[in-house]
Amino acid sequence: MKIIKTISELRAYLGNFKRPAFVPTMGNLHAGHLALVRQAKPLGDVLVVSIFVNRLQFLPHEDFDTYPRTWQADCQALEQAGCDVVFAPSEQELYPEPQGFKVHPPAELADILEGHFRPGFFVGVSTVVMKLFACVQPRVAVFGQKDYQQLMVIKRMAQQFALPIEVLGGPTLRAEDGLALSSRNNYLSAPERAEAVHLSQALQHMAQALRDGVTDVAQLEQQAMAGLTARGWQPDYLVVRRRHDLQTPKAAELADLLTHQGLVVLAAARLGSTRLIDNLEV
Ligand code: PAF
Repeated sequence: MKIIKTISELRAYLGNFKRPAFVPTMGNLHAGHLALVRQAKPLGDVLVVSIFVNRLQFLPHEDFDTYPRTWQADCQALEQAGCDVVFAPSEQELYPEPQGFKVHPPAELADILEGHFRPGFFVGVSTVVMKLFACVQPRVAVFGQKDYQQLMVIKRMAQQFALPIEVLGGPTLRAEDGLALSSRNNYLSAPERAEAVHLSQALQHMAQALRDGVTDVAQLEQQAMAGLTARGWQPDYLVVRRRHDLQTPKAAELADLLTHQGLVVLAAARLGSTRLIDNLEV
Protein backbone atom coordinates (compact mmCIF):
# COMPACT_ATOMS: atom_id res chain seq x y z
CA MET A 1 0.00 0.00 0.00
CA LYS A 2 1.38 3.39 -1.00
CA ILE A 3 1.11 6.41 1.25
CA ILE A 4 1.00 9.64 -0.73
CA LYS A 5 0.92 13.11 0.76
CA THR A 6 1.17 15.43 -2.22
CA ILE A 7 -1.14 16.08 -5.15
CA SER A 8 1.71 15.92 -7.67
CA GLU A 9 2.85 12.49 -6.46
CA LEU A 10 -0.74 11.25 -6.45
CA ARG A 11 -1.28 12.43 -10.04
CA ALA A 12 1.96 10.84 -11.21
CA TYR A 13 1.11 7.50 -9.58
CA LEU A 14 -2.53 7.39 -10.69
CA GLY A 15 -1.47 8.16 -14.27
CA ASN A 16 -0.77 4.41 -14.51
CA PHE A 17 -4.42 3.53 -13.97
CA LYS A 18 -7.65 3.98 -15.93
CA ARG A 19 -10.38 3.58 -13.35
CA PRO A 20 -9.56 4.70 -9.81
CA ALA A 21 -12.13 3.85 -7.15
CA PHE A 22 -12.22 6.25 -4.21
CA VAL A 23 -13.39 6.32 -0.59
CA PRO A 24 -12.94 9.70 1.13
CA THR A 25 -12.64 9.64 4.92
CA MET A 26 -11.55 11.77 7.85
CA GLY A 27 -9.72 8.81 9.38
CA ASN A 28 -10.43 7.21 12.77
CA LEU A 29 -11.65 4.29 10.73
CA HIS A 30 -14.12 1.71 11.99
CA ALA A 31 -15.74 -1.37 10.46
CA GLY A 32 -18.24 0.85 8.62
CA HIS A 33 -15.45 2.63 6.70
CA LEU A 34 -13.70 -0.66 5.97
CA ALA A 35 -16.93 -2.07 4.52
CA LEU A 36 -16.98 0.92 2.11
CA VAL A 37 -13.36 0.15 1.19
CA ARG A 38 -14.25 -3.48 0.47
CA GLN A 39 -17.28 -2.39 -1.54
CA ALA A 40 -15.16 -0.02 -3.64
CA LYS A 41 -12.24 -2.38 -4.17
CA PRO A 42 -13.63 -4.45 -7.10
CA LEU A 43 -15.09 -1.35 -8.79
CA GLY A 44 -11.79 0.10 -10.00
CA ASP A 45 -8.30 -0.86 -11.11
CA VAL A 46 -6.76 0.96 -8.14
CA LEU A 47 -8.36 1.85 -4.81
CA VAL A 48 -7.61 5.21 -3.20
CA VAL A 49 -8.69 6.13 0.34
CA SER A 50 -8.17 9.70 1.51
CA ILE A 51 -7.63 10.64 5.14
CA PHE A 52 -8.12 14.35 5.69
CA VAL A 53 -9.84 16.07 8.61
CA ASN A 54 -11.50 18.92 6.77
CA ARG A 55 -11.54 22.12 8.81
CA LEU A 56 -14.06 23.71 6.42
CA GLN A 57 -16.88 21.43 7.53
CA PHE A 58 -16.55 22.11 11.28
CA LEU A 59 -18.23 25.03 13.03
CA PRO A 60 -15.95 27.03 15.36
CA HIS A 61 -17.38 25.35 18.49
CA GLU A 62 -17.22 21.83 17.01
CA ASP A 63 -14.65 19.09 17.51
CA PHE A 64 -12.09 19.83 14.75
CA ASP A 65 -9.15 20.01 17.19
CA THR A 66 -10.15 16.96 19.19
CA TYR A 67 -11.38 14.84 16.25
CA PRO A 68 -9.54 11.54 16.81
CA ARG A 69 -6.46 11.13 14.61
CA THR A 70 -5.47 7.45 14.59
CA TRP A 71 -3.00 7.31 11.71
CA GLN A 72 -1.13 4.07 12.50
CA ALA A 73 -4.25 2.02 13.20
CA ASP A 74 -5.99 3.49 10.13
CA CYS A 75 -3.10 2.52 7.83
CA GLN A 76 -2.94 -1.02 9.23
CA ALA A 77 -6.68 -1.50 8.80
CA LEU A 78 -6.62 -0.06 5.27
CA GLU A 79 -3.79 -2.32 4.20
CA GLN A 80 -5.74 -5.37 5.43
CA ALA A 81 -8.91 -4.18 3.69
CA GLY A 82 -7.15 -4.03 0.32
CA CYS A 83 -6.51 -0.30 -0.06
CA ASP A 84 -3.84 0.47 -2.70
CA VAL A 85 -3.19 4.15 -2.00
CA VAL A 86 -3.75 6.27 1.10
CA PHE A 87 -3.91 9.92 0.09
CA ALA A 88 -3.25 11.98 3.22
CA PRO A 89 -2.52 15.58 2.28
CA SER A 90 -1.64 18.14 4.94
CA GLU A 91 -3.87 21.20 5.27
CA GLN A 92 -1.07 23.20 3.66
CA GLU A 93 -1.11 20.83 0.67
CA LEU A 94 -4.87 20.77 0.14
CA TYR A 95 -5.54 24.40 1.12
CA PRO A 96 -2.24 26.21 0.37
CA GLU A 97 -4.12 29.51 0.41
CA PRO A 98 -7.50 30.25 1.99
CA GLN A 99 -10.08 28.31 -0.04
CA GLY A 100 -11.88 31.29 -1.57
CA PHE A 101 -13.73 29.30 -4.24
CA LYS A 102 -16.36 27.13 -2.59
CA VAL A 103 -19.15 24.84 -3.71
CA HIS A 104 -22.55 26.03 -2.45
CA PRO A 105 -25.20 23.32 -2.70
CA PRO A 106 -28.81 24.49 -3.15
CA ALA A 107 -30.51 25.69 0.03
CA GLU A 108 -33.51 23.39 -0.29
CA LEU A 109 -31.15 20.44 0.00
CA ALA A 110 -28.33 21.74 2.13
CA ASP A 111 -29.91 24.23 4.56
CA ILE A 112 -32.32 21.69 6.06
CA LEU A 113 -31.67 18.99 8.70
CA GLU A 114 -27.86 18.77 9.16
CA GLY A 115 -27.36 22.02 7.28
CA HIS A 116 -29.86 23.81 9.50
CA PHE A 117 -28.16 22.71 12.70
CA ARG A 118 -24.63 22.93 11.28
CA PRO A 119 -24.72 26.00 9.02
CA GLY A 120 -22.08 25.83 6.30
CA PHE A 121 -21.48 22.12 6.84
CA PHE A 122 -22.41 21.11 3.32
CA VAL A 123 -20.43 23.96 1.78
CA GLY A 124 -17.40 22.56 3.60
CA VAL A 125 -18.16 18.96 2.61
CA SER A 126 -18.96 19.76 -1.03
CA THR A 127 -15.88 21.93 -1.39
CA VAL A 128 -13.46 19.35 -0.01
CA VAL A 129 -15.08 16.49 -1.92
CA MET A 130 -14.89 18.50 -5.16
CA LYS A 131 -11.23 19.17 -4.45
CA LEU A 132 -10.49 15.53 -3.57
CA PHE A 133 -12.33 14.47 -6.74
CA ALA A 134 -10.06 16.86 -8.71
CA CYS A 135 -6.97 15.30 -7.09
CA VAL A 136 -7.95 11.63 -7.41
CA GLN A 137 -10.12 11.86 -10.56
CA PRO A 138 -11.95 8.68 -9.63
CA ARG A 139 -14.45 6.87 -11.87
CA VAL A 140 -16.39 5.68 -8.86
CA ALA A 141 -16.61 6.97 -5.27
CA VAL A 142 -18.32 5.34 -2.29
CA PHE A 143 -19.85 7.23 0.67
CA GLY A 144 -21.65 5.84 3.73
CA GLN A 145 -25.45 5.96 3.80
CA LYS A 146 -25.29 6.82 7.49
CA ASP A 147 -24.61 10.37 6.30
CA TYR A 148 -27.77 10.20 4.22
CA GLN A 149 -28.05 13.89 3.37
CA GLN A 150 -24.32 14.14 2.62
CA LEU A 151 -24.61 11.28 0.13
CA MET A 152 -27.52 13.03 -1.56
CA VAL A 153 -25.65 16.34 -1.74
CA ILE A 154 -22.58 14.67 -3.29
CA LYS A 155 -24.68 12.71 -5.79
CA ARG A 156 -26.43 15.92 -6.90
CA MET A 157 -23.14 17.80 -7.06
CA ALA A 158 -21.61 15.15 -9.32
CA GLN A 159 -24.72 15.16 -11.49
CA GLN A 160 -25.06 18.95 -11.79
CA PHE A 161 -21.36 19.50 -12.52
CA ALA A 162 -21.43 16.56 -14.99
CA LEU A 163 -18.53 14.95 -13.15
CA PRO A 164 -17.62 11.64 -14.81
CA ILE A 165 -17.87 9.90 -11.43
CA GLU A 166 -20.36 7.29 -10.29
CA VAL A 167 -21.27 8.14 -6.68
CA LEU A 168 -22.47 5.12 -4.70
CA GLY A 169 -23.78 4.66 -1.16
CA GLY A 170 -22.65 1.91 1.19
CA PRO A 171 -24.98 0.46 3.83
CA THR A 172 -24.77 1.58 7.46
CA LEU A 173 -23.02 -0.91 9.71
CA ARG A 174 -24.46 -1.32 13.19
CA ALA A 175 -23.27 -2.65 16.54
CA GLU A 176 -25.14 -5.69 17.88
CA ASP A 177 -27.59 -3.49 19.77
CA GLY A 178 -28.36 -1.45 16.64
CA LEU A 179 -26.23 1.65 17.21
CA ALA A 180 -24.91 2.90 13.86
CA LEU A 181 -21.10 2.74 13.75
CA SER A 182 -19.53 6.21 13.87
CA SER A 183 -16.17 7.68 14.79
CA ARG A 184 -18.02 9.86 17.30
CA ASN A 185 -19.24 6.78 19.24
CA ASN A 186 -15.75 6.80 20.77
CA TYR A 187 -16.71 9.94 22.69
CA LEU A 188 -19.50 8.14 24.59
CA SER A 189 -18.99 7.15 28.25
CA ALA A 190 -20.06 3.60 29.22
CA PRO A 191 -23.52 4.69 30.46
CA GLU A 192 -23.97 6.88 27.36
CA ARG A 193 -22.98 3.99 25.13
CA ALA A 194 -25.67 1.84 26.77
CA GLU A 195 -28.23 4.61 26.28
CA ALA A 196 -27.19 5.33 22.67
CA VAL A 197 -29.19 2.39 21.32
CA HIS A 198 -32.36 4.42 21.89
CA LEU A 199 -31.64 6.59 18.86
CA SER A 200 -31.92 3.71 16.39
CA GLN A 201 -34.82 2.30 18.40
CA ALA A 202 -36.68 5.60 18.07
CA LEU A 203 -36.18 5.45 14.31
CA GLN A 204 -37.36 1.85 14.19
CA HIS A 205 -40.43 2.82 16.17
CA MET A 206 -41.20 5.66 13.72
CA ALA A 207 -40.68 3.36 10.73
CA GLN A 208 -42.99 0.74 12.23
CA ALA A 209 -45.66 3.33 13.02
CA LEU A 210 -45.61 4.43 9.36
CA ARG A 211 -45.91 0.83 8.20
CA ASP A 212 -48.82 0.40 10.64
CA GLY A 213 -50.66 3.21 8.88
CA VAL A 214 -49.96 6.27 11.04
CA THR A 215 -50.49 9.34 8.86
CA ASP A 216 -50.01 12.20 11.33
CA VAL A 217 -46.32 12.71 10.62
CA ALA A 218 -46.01 15.86 12.75
CA GLN A 219 -47.40 14.09 15.80
CA LEU A 220 -45.18 11.06 15.22
CA GLU A 221 -42.13 13.33 15.05
CA GLN A 222 -43.14 15.25 18.19
CA GLN A 223 -43.68 12.04 20.14
CA ALA A 224 -40.28 10.71 19.08
CA MET A 225 -38.60 13.99 20.09
CA ALA A 226 -40.42 13.98 23.45
CA GLY A 227 -39.47 10.34 24.08
CA LEU A 228 -35.76 10.97 23.61
CA THR A 229 -35.88 14.26 25.52
CA ALA A 230 -37.47 12.45 28.47
CA ARG A 231 -34.51 10.03 28.46
CA GLY A 232 -32.06 12.94 28.78
CA TRP A 233 -31.19 13.46 25.09
CA GLN A 234 -31.17 16.82 23.33
CA PRO A 235 -32.61 15.94 19.92
CA ASP A 236 -32.11 18.28 16.97
CA TYR A 237 -34.57 16.42 14.76
CA LEU A 238 -36.40 13.12 14.33
CA VAL A 239 -38.27 13.42 11.07
CA VAL A 240 -40.02 11.56 8.30
CA ARG A 241 -38.90 12.68 4.84
CA ARG A 242 -39.27 11.76 1.19
CA ARG A 243 -36.17 9.92 0.03
CA HIS A 244 -35.85 11.73 -3.27
CA ASP A 245 -35.69 15.32 -1.98
CA LEU A 246 -35.67 15.09 1.84
CA GLN A 247 -38.83 17.19 2.07
CA THR A 248 -41.75 16.41 4.41
CA PRO A 249 -44.26 14.09 2.74
CA LYS A 250 -47.85 15.28 2.38
CA ALA A 251 -50.45 13.11 4.15
CA ALA A 252 -52.04 12.31 0.78
CA GLU A 253 -48.83 10.85 -0.66
CA LEU A 254 -47.77 8.78 2.37
CA ALA A 255 -49.42 5.53 1.31
CA ASP A 256 -47.94 5.71 -2.18
CA LEU A 257 -44.48 6.58 -0.83
CA LEU A 258 -44.66 3.65 1.58
CA THR A 259 -45.60 1.24 -1.18
CA HIS A 260 -42.74 2.43 -3.35
CA GLN A 261 -40.08 2.57 -0.60
CA GLY A 262 -40.00 6.35 -0.91
CA LEU A 263 -39.60 7.35 2.74
CA VAL A 264 -36.70 7.75 5.13
CA VAL A 265 -36.67 8.60 8.83
CA LEU A 266 -33.70 10.64 9.98
CA ALA A 267 -32.43 11.70 13.39
CA ALA A 268 -29.76 13.81 15.01
CA ALA A 269 -29.51 14.10 18.76
CA ARG A 270 -26.98 15.00 21.39
CA LEU A 271 -26.23 12.62 24.24
CA GLY A 272 -24.10 14.52 26.75
CA SER A 273 -21.64 16.33 24.54
CA THR A 274 -21.75 13.79 21.68
CA ARG A 275 -23.93 14.44 18.66
CA LEU A 276 -25.11 11.27 16.89
CA ILE A 277 -26.98 10.92 13.60
CA ASP A 278 -28.79 7.97 12.08
CA ASN A 279 -31.44 7.13 9.51
CA LEU A 280 -33.59 4.26 8.27
CA GLU A 281 -35.17 3.86 4.88
CA VAL A 282 -38.82 2.87 5.11
O1 PAF B 1 -18.10 11.67 5.76
C1 PAF B 1 -16.95 12.11 5.98
O2 PAF B 1 -16.11 11.47 6.60
C2 PAF B 1 -16.59 13.48 5.45
O3 PAF B 1 -17.69 14.34 5.47
C3 PAF B 1 -15.95 13.46 4.04
C4 PAF B 1 -16.93 12.94 3.01
C5 PAF B 1 -14.71 12.59 4.06
C6 PAF B 1 -15.54 14.87 3.63
O4 PAF B 1 -14.60 15.41 4.52
